[in-house]
Amino acid sequence: MSSPKRKSYELDSAEPEPSKKTKLSSDEESEASEIPISNASAAPDSRIDHKAAIAYWQGTEATVSGVLGGFPEVSRVDIQGSSNFLAKLRRSSKRHPPGKKLRRAADCGAGIGRITEGLLSQVAEVVDIVEPVESFTDAVKGKPGVGEIFNVGLEAWHPDRDGLGPYDLIWNQWCVGQLTDVQLVDYLQRMVLVLSEGGWIVVKENLSNHNLGEDVFDSEDSSVTRTDTKFRELFGKAGLKLVSTELQRGMPKGLYPVRAYALQPR
Ligand SMILES: C[S@@+](CC[C@H](N)C(=O)[O-])C[C@H]1O[C@@H](n2cnc3c(N)ncnc32)[C@H](O)[C@@H]1O
Repeated sequence: MSSPKRKSYELDSAEPEPSKKTKLSSDEESEASEIPISNASAAPDSRIDHKAAIAYWQGTEATVSGVLGGFPEVSRVDIQGSSNFLAKLRRSSKRHPPGKKLRRAADCGAGIGRITEGLLSQVAEVVDIVEPVESFTDAVKGKPGVGEIFNVGLEAWHPDRDGLGPYDLIWNQWCVGQLTDVQLVDYLQRMVLVLSEGGWIVVKENLSNHNLGEDVFDSEDSSVTRTDTKFRELFGKAGLKLVSTELQRGMPKGLYPVRAYALQPR
């Protein structure tokens, strides 16, 4: 899943199946359940079906536990890690140093606005929300610091065309697995057009630990979990350079590792 999740390649069959999104690591899910033999050679992202993904998320409760796949306890450590990561970025920034709020941020694939509430609204004057599922954005509507709400998938969000931004920070977490590789590169290229000078695109996602170093398709929410190598390749294709990256510490054992990447145009 695109949420915290158990590793596909470490699943302990005696363990009860955790609920969806927060994803486990690949060790658990992959081999048997995730890649049917008939489809084993297809690129994992070719199996992404946006309708199925949205149906899945629409059927998920609008709570932290819902958007984190049944691992709400991960939220605290995640937000703390993100806050530290961002603080370090700002300490080495000439354009957006600490001490002053960022002008505008975007929470992309925002779910119920967990990150907006826990982090982004504290560091930015206004946070725009991009999230296709309306029952999720209903939970964040009207909250302090929340600006525009766009109920679309990232593949269909065109802030450049619609005259939005500029954004000092575009945060993408546990959601870019919902896009195909081509869609993700296109999307990141569009984000460059609405990023302020010195601003950052942050991608924070699970990493595939597939034993052959492959991305893993998850039929539950119709998403892919990518390898670190694949992420870096796609960032490069989008014309982005990696300015900082960190592994999230303190994730419960058995879940996929989670890595944050801070990106800027090359
Ligand atoms: C695991 S939740 C993460 C939510 C939020 N980023 C967080 O960390 O709390 C994944 C979110 O991605 C959203 N999503 C599904 N398809 C998407 C798409 N094509 N573009 C953007 N978001 C999508 C889901 O509706 C859901 O809110």
